[in-house]
Amino acid sequence: MCGIVGYLGKNEKKEILLDGLQELEYRGYDSAGIAVIEGDKLNNFKAIGKLENLREKTKAYHTEGFGISIGHTRWATHGKPTELNAHPHLGAYSYVVHNGIIENYQELKTELQADGVNFLSQTDTETIVHLFEKEHKSSDSVFAAFEKTLSKLDGAYATLLITEADPDTIYFAKHGSPMLVGFNGDDVYFASSDTPIIGKATEVYYLEDGEYGYAKEGVLKLFDANGEKSFTKQALTADKVSAQKEGYRFFMEKEIYEQSSVMGDTMMGRVLDDTINFEELDKDFFENIYAIKICACGTSYHSALASSYLFERIGKMRCDVEIASEFRYKEPFLTEKTLFITISQSGETADTLEALKMAKRAGMRTLSICNVDNSSIVRESDAAILTRAGIEKGVASTKAFATQSMVLWMLALYVGQTKNTISQELIKNEIDAMIHTPKALIVTDKLHEKVHRLSKRYLHGHGFFFIGRDIFFPLALEGALKLKEISYMHAEGYPAGEMKHGPIALADSELFTIALMPKSMHYDKIKSNVEELSARDATICAISPLPFDLADDFIQTNYDSHPMLEYFEMMVVTQLLALEISVRLGNDVDMPRNLAKSVTVE
Ligand code: F6R
Repeated sequence: MCGIVGYLGKNEKKEILLDGLQELEYRGYDSAGIAVIEGDKLNNFKAIGKLENLREKTKAYHTEGFGISIGHTRWATHGKPTELNAHPHLGAYSYVVHNGIIENYQELKTELQADGVNFLSQTDTETIVHLFEKEHKSSDSVFAAFEKTLSKLDGAYATLLITEADPDTIYFAKHGSPMLVGFNGDDVYFASSDTPIIGKATEVYYLEDGEYGYAKEGVLKLFDANGEKSFTKQALTADKVSAQKEGYRFFMEKEIYEQSSVMGDTMMGRVLDDTINFEELDKDFFENIYAIKICACGTSYHSALASSYLFERIGKMRCDVEIASEFRYKEPFLTEKTLFITISQSGETADTLEALKMAKRAGMRTLSICNVDNSSIVRESDAAILTRAGIEKGVASTKAFATQSMVLWMLALYVGQTKNTISQELIKNEIDAMIHTPKALIVTDKLHEKVHRLSKRYLHGHGFFFIGRDIFFPLALEGALKLKEISYMHAEGYPAGEMKHGPIALADSELFTIALMPKSMHYDKIKSNVEELSARDATICAISPLPFDLADDFIQTNYDSHPMLEYFEMMVVTQLLALEISVRLGNDVDMPRNLAKSVTVE
């Protein structure tokens, strides 16, 4: 959730760091900082808020010749977003940047304070640099001190350290948080994901957990618990996937509009005339598998929940879904006959990754559905299906959710097909519907304009209930999450049939109900649930292909033949509604407060 970059070489370091941090800014943007050592010149800048503040502050600063440098963009975990808490953290003569959490930092800090060390920040990170300088006093070399420091850290981290005691070397370590090293001639780059170094480095090595070492001009030394090790670099694409806004006001808006086209990529080579094909899965991948357990967080959890209906109804296989952070500590009963699926846009979500590791330890077969190739979750899984949504920059996830939902729908069908539990006719019907999905995702001017006009009536009130049944219940949860993330208004998703068991007590004209009323699934049931709310004077915004007299606002959808097509079309409506409400409220749609794109801490 924070972002790290590092660079060692002769090029202009400030620009490389700031450009790299720009690519990572969506991961955390409460402060940013850089530190550069050139010979005996050491410079350090920090600024709170967005990266442009750091750019402004470093306007007059330029680097020259060979040097080493590190940078960081922060999402606060320990301590408030202040300049003192921003990275890089300074010791007496060293700087450190860090992603993740040092779990035993309090213990270490107390020891260091007892030795007379003065801490400037409230962060766990600062412990690393002081611990290093303490170890340095009694070590033969900087590297030995770095190794001793690492051996004392508990938790998950990726870290870079530079020190005046060795001014031409960057020290690095990865343990549970992502980090990679890029190479171009003698230049060495570090980053917490590959976007900052695309177009700069030509080759890359993705560090594994437990690896650490140091880089000098043209040299990288890599170690793990067994000592020095060799490694193989991979070619890094130079084709920077342009994630510019392309005329849209926000990345989120662009990503909503993109859903129709990326869905084609998601299906390519997988949805065939009368069969579903996953090259990623061995023929016997589902052999001896009789149930599915899915773990995920946030939006990815919602796509998982929707898929549990599909795995049971279409795939004829039992499917449980759990929030990863809950799963981790419940001492779950796991069996080898259950396939363990993780779903993640980033592939770096700490809770999901840890849940996956638990499943592996229990001997389960694992599959990940992920948007980022080479991410930690992908690398950790037995098999991975990429969602192919392209880079998602808006913090509020949209196209990742859409493509996850599609992959899971295909997978449910694939399970039924592989296990021979469903008819060819059903497969054909589902495939026919799948092929229409890109169309159902098209955002027309008429729809966007309608949602824009209607959004002005939803800027107040005491809350929103998004309601739906079956797969439209997880969609309601997701609609509510989108709205609360970027509008900061209270919103809840609820199964429509549950409202009468308590929440209906909240109903009055200032309670806004967004009712998902598909024609092809339980229409009469949801209709009577909405009628109950209307009778209590709740304000109803109905989304349905069928006109609904009791609606205060009505958004008519087009698809009514297949629940998944209705699902995708209604998904777009809820995304646009959240977007337009947030814009009217003047919020930063792409970087909503308190959030970060990738949550690599527990
Ligand atoms: C919401 C959102 C988050 C993520 C969650 C899991 O818009 O983006 O709820 O879905 O943090 O992230 P991933 O999918 O990267 O594991």
